[in-house]
Amino acid sequence: MKPIGGYFELEFREGEHYHKNAIKLSTARQCLEYILLARKYKKINIPYYTCDVLLEPIKKLGVEYNFYHINEMLEPIFDKVLDKDEALLYTNYFGLKQNTVLSLSKQYKNLIVDNAQAFFSSPVKHTDTFYSARKFFGVPDGAYLYTDYPLDKKFPPYVPNLHTKHLVGRLVHTAEMYYNDYKESECAFSNMEIHSMSILSEHILKALDYQQIIQRRRENYMILSHHLNNLNKIKFNISDTDDVPMAYPFWNDKVNLRHSLISQKIFIPKYWQCVFEWTTAQDIETEFTERLYPIPIDQRYKEKEMNYIIDHILE
Ligand SMILES: Cc1ncc(COP(=O)(O)O)c(C=O)c1O
Repeated sequence: MKPIGGYFELEFREGEHYHKNAIKLSTARQCLEYILLARKYKKINIPYYTCDVLLEPIKKLGVEYNFYHINEMLEPIFDKVLDKDEALLYTNYFGLKQNTVLSLSKQYKNLIVDNAQAFFSSPVKHTDTFYSARKFFGVPDGAYLYTDYPLDKKFPPYVPNLHTKHLVGRLVHTAEMYYNDYKESECAFSNMEIHSMSILSEHILKALDYQQIIQRRRENYMILSHHLNNLNKIKFNISDTDDVPMAYPFWNDKVNLRHSLISQKIFIPKYWQCVFEWTTAQDIETEFTERLYPIPIDQRYKEKEMNYIIDHILE
């Protein structure tokens, strides 16, 4: 029995996880480690256009890896027949590539879907799929995994005590003041053993109004599409789909757009710095890292912020 009465802890609305039936871990890379352990893969094919932290579990477990290229529509250039103990990992880029995920799942039994950028994309039956909550919400950690191969093992929950400062700090002060704390909280995940989701993230993720979040993201995306599509070299129309994007990917040749937006306090992340090491200047992945700008469309913002971004880009 827990103590009764006394001072109060933080309180949250008691709702449900969006991914109710998934295994709840701490980070996406830990989900990949779990899959590699459960499926005993010896080899994995990963895109050049991805985050280098995915190599942590691959190297830790001594799994052989090969990179593959993607095309201008963010689809794999890959036609290898996979060995039994070999996997293909594909990233559902910006939450806009569910159709590609579906067709790959028909072609490859050993597909691993990285939905770190696609929190709201449904898992495909019998396909190992993982999600990372930090890319979509203000939580210290949180990842979801769907697999038909559960490990018979319990993992200790991640305790983020020291790594919640940026979440509270940005709420009451400025993003800039807590950027270093945010970086530190991210570094803490480096080479961390598999943990289950922290109790704090569980509470936050069960309290969110997902339907409102979905609607906001889709509306914001459509505002940006309407005004920027004619300047964008890559276009994804979401009006005929259920896609809920992570960001509006804007591919444009304008030099220094990222810096000029940052000077207006519009923060545009760079996906991903490691790509410069892995590829050459001629490769499409270098171009994407340099000039495919993920413009924020998340639930914190409405039409006013979208128009502010549009005005600065058009300027
Ligand atoms: C596409 C993609 N997959 C996986 C990851 C790893 O996520 P996590 O930091 O939750 O391990 C990232 C991290 O940025 C990512 O961008």
